[in-house]
Amino acid sequence: LIIKDIGTVPEWASLREHSIKYGYKSVILLPLISDNKCFGIMNLYSTEPYISTEKEVELLQELVNDISYRIFVLRAKTEEENLKKEKEKLQLQMFQMEKISALGQLSSGIAHELNNPLTTILGLTQYQLKKTDKSSDLYNDLKTIESLSLRSRDIIRTLLAYSRQTEMKFELLDINQIIEKSIELVGHQIELNNIKVIKMYTEKLPYISGVNQLLIQVFVNLISNACDAMTDGGTLTISTERADNKIKLTDTGKGIPKEIMDKIFRPFFTTKPVGKGTGLGLPIVKNIIEKHKGEISVKSPVDDHIQGTVFTILLPAV
Ligand SMILES: Nc1ncnc2c1ncn2[C@@H]1O[C@H](COP(=O)(O)OP(=O)(O)O)[C@@H](O)[C@H]1O
Ligand SMILES: [Mg+2]
Repeated sequence: LIIKDIGTVPEWASLREHSIKYGYKSVILLPLISDNKCFGIMNLYSTEPYISTEKEVELLQELVNDISYRIFVLRAKTEEENLKKEKEKLQLQMFQMEKISALGQLSSGIAHELNNPLTTILGLTQYQLKKTDKSSDLYNDLKTIESLSLRSRDIIRTLLAYSRQTEMKFELLDINQIIEKSIELVGHQIELNNIKVIKMYTEKLPYISGVNQLLIQVFVNLISNACDAMTDGGTLTISTERADNKIKLTDTGKGIPKEIMDKIFRPFFTTKPVGKGTGLGLPIVKNIIEKHKGEISVKSPVDDHIQGTVFTILLPAV
């Protein structure tokens, strides 16, 4: 289609203003065709009134046919590459899910075995602490044993709660309450690290269908990670929003380096020293969120100016 004078041709009325603004006088429209289907149009504008010969137009159309073919090939290739990438991603996810589920089965046994001795260690330590002079070396050592035992107990509880999930039922839950309970459970860590928790709850959120113990685990893990990232104190802001039941946890911690961003959800990936990190928190969190048909995403730094990390969870009501 050739429009010799944009200013007068009625079909062009809708684009006239735009064309005149740029000073176009004429335009040649060439269809992009592949597989006998037109998938686009190339507009060649000119600031001159139409003067091309038929031969020139023919030549142009041939050029455009060439371009069409290239675009077609490129698109096919991109699609193929995307498919391949998608497949690889799926495979990796499946592999990780398998690791997690094997872990779930294994961990319940191990966790049970460890639970009893640990309870005794903790009990005896706390008993001896009461009888020991606070200024002595022994007292400090006992304090260390106590805090490490508490941490171990947390890990074991996490694993136990996680592996018991098959027995757990979905029920209607209040997200704000779940978060409150989670904060309570990590209370000692919050205090220990001198962290200020700011709650920005939206009241009367719609109930969501979920497994209470599992969702508590999600927030216990995320809050505990935030505490680990803020060893010298800081602020953890937890907000809930009505849209998609969005929950945001924003910390002012050390942030997550770009290089490890795509690894943090992998089982056993941890940057923490032995005895402190298990690398199980986030994969379990992700697994639980997916069981609830939700989504989790992470951003670090929080924005261009603020360091720290923000985890966003969507738990659409079912
Ligand atoms: N809020 C956070 N701030 C900084 N780094 C984080 C945060 N949350 C998670 N990470 C990083 O992700 C890693 C994996 O977390 P996780 O799966 O919970 O395992 P763990 O806490 O046992 O190391 C952590 O070791 C840490 O490097
Ligand atoms: Mg963790």
